[in-house]
Amino acid sequence: MSSPRYIRHHDLLLPSEAHDAQSLEYAQNFSVEDTDVFAVTYPKSGTIWMQEILPLVLNDGDLTPIHTIPNWDRVPWLEEKRLAFVVDQLKSPRALVTHFPYHIMPPSFHTSKAKVIYVIRNPKDVMVSSYHFHQMAGFLEDPGTFDEFMEKFLEGRVMFGKWTDHVKSWRHTALQDRIMFIAYEEMVEDLPAALRRISEFLGTKLSEKTIQKIAEHCSFKSMKANKMSNFSLIPKQYMDHDKSPFLRKGIAEDWKNCFSSEQLARFTSVICKEMEGESLSLPWS
Ligand code: PPS
Repeated sequence: MSSPRYIRHHDLLLPSEAHDAQSLEYAQNFSVEDTDVFAVTYPKSGTIWMQEILPLVLNDGDLTPIHTIPNWDRVPWLEEKRLAFVVDQLKSPRALVTHFPYHIMPPSFHTSKAKVIYVIRNPKDVMVSSYHFHQMAGFLEDPGTFDEFMEKFLEGRVMFGKWTDHVKSWRHTALQDRIMFIAYEEMVEDLPAALRRISEFLGTKLSEKTIQKIAEHCSFKSMKANKMSNFSLIPKQYMDHDKSPFLRKGIAEDWKNCFSSEQLARFTSVICKEMEGESLSLPWS
């Protein structure tokens, strides 16, 4: 009998391929340093993009790690099994990623001065990306039809729960100037401008030449061609890029190619109701 695809953690479903009781306990007891920087995302919002960007912005555009270390070890996930194996190799300032909502971050995070870059993406595109990811990732449940997957997504019966809960959890916090929100669409629109904003937030002084160099190496095309960043090193049984590549389209508004008018109405009414009163200014309607 195969083992279950998900484990439960604080009412959230997490893929058991990458998470187990030990990794979650390790995350809970993780000692966050004041100089740490976390890229925080709901899955399929631009995690690996920010994972690529952070070490470059923190290390004056040094490309060596990008060409020699797979992204999951270069900037590990707080909650995943790999962290314990690579933590000693991380150099300060450390960059990490997490899909955790705010309230289950480890206690040491809350008492630290660690910074957070929260990448937010149009939930319609998040859902489309996730639907394709569920088709290629052998360790996830089959998504079923697009309609069926939409219902699961809206009800939070997917990994890391509801998109709306995740976003809201990171907005009502005591983080103040420790957190910066950036939209995936803003990065698609003008990556150098996004990099300048990230660099200013992190207090790194980068020349315009370095900004342009980082933008070039973090383009969709460059990342798709880099085996340290495109997940082609993962065996096909776990990720089958012939079914759908991990770096699939890398655009905004792909949802327009996938949603029917009924699906759009249903999706919008649920998300708008749950986001009522949030007064989020975002580059999509
Ligand atoms: S995961 O599984 O949660 O870590 O996935 P995540 O990295 O959050 O999201 C994957 C989507 O991000 C896109 N992506 C990019 N878009 C534009 N430019 C760059 N450089 C880039 N890197 C990753 C990736 O293609 C997935 O989106 P879709 O819409 O599926 O193409």
